[in-house]
Amino acid sequence: MALRTLEKDSLENFDPFGPAFRADPEPFHQRLLQTSPGFMTLEGVPSAYVARYAQATEVLRDFKSFSSLKPKGLPGMERIDFFNGLPVMNYSDPPDHTRRRRVVNPAFNPRRTELLMTEARTQIDRVLDKAAETGRFDAVQELAKPLSIETLLDRFLMVTDKDAQQIFFDYFASVPLLDKMKPGDPKPQPFLDVWARGQAYCLDQLELSRHGKADSLIGVIASSVLDGTLNEDEMMAMMIVLLIGGVATVSGAIGSSLRFLAADPDLADRIRDDPELAARHLEEALRIDSPVSLVMRFGAETSVIDGVPIPKDMPVYVMLSSANRDPTVFERPDEFNIDRPNVKEHVAFGQGVHTCIGNTVTRTLVPEVIRRVAGRFRHIRIAEGVPNAVHFNSSNPRARHLENLILDVR
Ligand code: HEM
Repeated sequence: MALRTLEKDSLENFDPFGPAFRADPEPFHQRLLQTSPGFMTLEGVPSAYVARYAQATEVLRDFKSFSSLKPKGLPGMERIDFFNGLPVMNYSDPPDHTRRRRVVNPAFNPRRTELLMTEARTQIDRVLDKAAETGRFDAVQELAKPLSIETLLDRFLMVTDKDAQQIFFDYFASVPLLDKMKPGDPKPQPFLDVWARGQAYCLDQLELSRHGKADSLIGVIASSVLDGTLNEDEMMAMMIVLLIGGVATVSGAIGSSLRFLAADPDLADRIRDDPELAARHLEEALRIDSPVSLVMRFGAETSVIDGVPIPKDMPVYVMLSSANRDPTVFERPDEFNIDRPNVKEHVAFGQGVHTCIGNTVTRTLVPEVIRRVAGRFRHIRIAEGVPNAVHFNSSNPRARHLENLILDVR
C-alpha cells in the first residue's frame, strides 16, 4: 500500500476535527509525525498535537501532567460534549476516575464475555447463512452494526426493553447535531429531549434496584448509586459511555477487519488453516484503521515533550491513528502485515489509566467474526461495480468507521 501524503507544508491550518482529516486521515500521518509535537489554533484556542508513538504514550501515561478533565467553557468542546457536561470516567482523573471505573470493571470479566459469545455466534451464523443464499451482503449494515448493538446493548448492558433501546438509538441519532454547534450555541433540543428520556429511564432503574429487581449491568450501576459510590448524574453518564465507547468502534473494527480479509485471499486461507491468526488480524486492522483517531488531554502543568514546552491548560490532541503509523515502531507502517512481531503494540485502545475497558470484549468478539467469515466462504471479495461498496462514515469528530462494506461471498 503506497503512502499518500500531504503537499509540503500544507499542515499549516491543520484541524483534527476538520472535514479533510476526518474524511481521510491517511495523507496527514507522515506530516503529523514529522512535525510532532506541533501547534495549531482551533476556535481561537492555541492547542498542541502529539503524533509520534513515544510522545503519544508519554502523554497518555502521565495523567498528572496531562489531565483528562475538560476545562469548562473551552470553545470548540461543545461539539464533543457527548455526555452533556456530566462527569464521566474517560473525562476524569484519578481518584474520581478510579472510583468510577471500579464500579463497572468487574463486569468486564472473561466469564461474562464468554456468555455474550454464545448468542453472538448464533447471530453471526444466521447472517452468514443468509449471505450464502444471496452471494452478496453488506458486512457493516447486516452484520457488524446489528451484532455490536445486540451484543453490547441487549446482552452486555442488558437493556432489552424495546422502548428503552429506542432511547439509545435516538441518542445516537442526535449526537451528530452537536457537531454542527458553534461556540456559545445552546445544545440542540432533540439531544436535550433524548437526554431527559435517558435520565428518566435511569431513575426508573434506580427505583427497581431499590426494590432489588434490576438484575443487569444497569442494576450494578444503580446499586452503586444506592450505596453512594456514584451519584445519579454519574449513572446516566456511565450508561452512555459504555454504549458510545463500544457500538461504533466495535462495528468499525469488524468492518475494517473484513475489508482487509476481502483484499487478500491468502489471509482468509491462512486463518482457515490457523484460526488463532484471527486475533493478529484484528490487531493489525486496529492499528492501520484505528477506529478512534484521537483523544484529548489538557496541560495540568507546563510539561516538556521532546524538548518542546507544552503550556499549562493547553488542549493536547493525541493523534492515535498517526502514532500507529510511526515507522520507528512499526516497520513499513502502511502495510497490513499480521506477522509483524509487535502487532499488539498499537495504541488503538489508548494507554495508561484510561486504556479501553472494552478491549477484552472487542478482542473476543471480533476475531470470532473473522474466523466465522473466513471459515464459511472460500471466496470473499469486495463487490465489483457497486458504487460505495466501501464507504466510510466520517460524521464523528474523533472517529472514522466503515458504514458500508458490500462483499461478494461464496
Ligand atoms: C474497536 C473497539 C474499541 C476501540 C478502538 C476503543 C478505543 C478506546 C480508546 C482509544 C480509549 C481511551 C480513551 C482515552 O484515553 O481518553 C477507550 C476508552 C474507553 N472505552 Fe473503548 N474502544 C473500543 C471498544 C469499547 C467497548 C466494547 C466498550 C464498552 C463496552 C468501550 C468502552 C470504553 C470506556 C468506558 C472507556 C473509558 C475508559 C476510562 O476512561 O478508563 N470501548 N476506548
